Amino acid sequence: MAAKIIDGKLISSQIKDELKEKTALLKEKGITVTLAVILVGEDPASQVYVRNKKRACEYIGYNSLSYELPAETSQEELLKLIAELNSRKDVDGILVQMPLPGHIDEKTVIDAIDPSKDVDGFHPMNVGALCIGEKGFVSCTPAGVIQLLKRGCENFDIAGKECVIVGRSNIVGKPMALLMLRENATVTIAHSKTKNLEEVCKRADILIAAVGKAGVITADHVKDGAVVIDVGINRNEEGKLCGDVRYDEVAGKAYAITPVPGGVGPMTIAMLMNNCYEAALMHMNQ
Ligand code: GUN
Repeated sequence: MAAKIIDGKLISSQIKDELKEKTALLKEKGITVTLAVILVGEDPASQVYVRNKKRACEYIGYNSLSYELPAETSQEELLKLIAELNSRKDVDGILVQMPLPGHIDEKTVIDAIDPSKDVDGFHPMNVGALCIGEKGFVSCTPAGVIQLLKRGCENFDIAGKECVIVGRSNIVGKPMALLMLRENATVTIAHSKTKNLEEVCKRADILIAAVGKAGVITADHVKDGAVVIDVGINRNEEGKLCGDVRYDEVAGKAYAITPVPGGVGPMTIAMLMNNCYEAALMHMNQ
C-alpha cells in the first residue's frame, strides 16, 4: 500500500490559523505580539527566509520589526542592537537569521539574546531547559516534527516506539532526540561515524532524517510500515529541491512519509510563530 503523505503545508496552515484567532483575542485586550527580525548581509536564501517570516507575522496579526544590516556590520554593533531589543518592553521575540558573516561569532550573538525572547530556542538556557524537562523555547524545526507526528498521523502513539534520528546538529538532531524522549520514545541518534547505518535505521518505527545530503536514506534503511520524516532540504544535480530520503522508493515501504517540499519545511515558521505567541503570553504577566 502506498504511504500516507503527511501534509506539512496543511498542518502549518492550521497552526497559523489557530494562532491568528488567539492573536485577535489578545488584541482585544490591547496586546500585540512583536517579533524583531535581524538579517546581516545579503545572503539570498536568508533573504527569502526572513521575508517568509515577516509575511507569516503579517498573516497572523503580529507586529514585525525588521533590521536589515550591511554585511560589514561589526559584532559590537549587532550586540548593541540586541541589548536594545532585550530591554524594550514592546518586543516579545528576537530572531537573528543565521548564518552570520564570518567576522561575527554566532555563539556570542545567541548568548546575548534574552532567553525569554529567544524564539528560535537556540540559547543555552532554553536548550538546558529542554534537556531537564523544564519550560522554555524549543528549536522550531524539531518542534514542527512533533506536530507532524501528532496531527498528521492519527491513531499513532509515539510512546514506546523505536525512533532513530540521523544527524546530531544543535538545531535539529539533538533537540529532536530530547523531544522524542519527552514523548516517551526509545531514541537512537545516528551520525556520520555510525557503523552499519542501514541496520540501525531499520530498527526504527519512526525514522527522522536530518543529514543535509540528498538521497542518503534509501528503501534499504527503512522497516516496512515505518513513519519517515525528512528534515533535509537539498538540491539535486538538476537543481530540484529534494530531501535526505529517496522519496519514490521509500514511499512504497513506509506507513507514512513527509514530502520535500511541503513536509517539515513549512512547519518551522509555524512553530516560530507559536513561540512568539508564547513569548507574548510570558511577557504579559511580567
Ligand atoms: N537559518 C536557517 N534556519 C534558521 C532558523 O531556524 N533560525 C535562524 N535564526 N536562522 C536560521
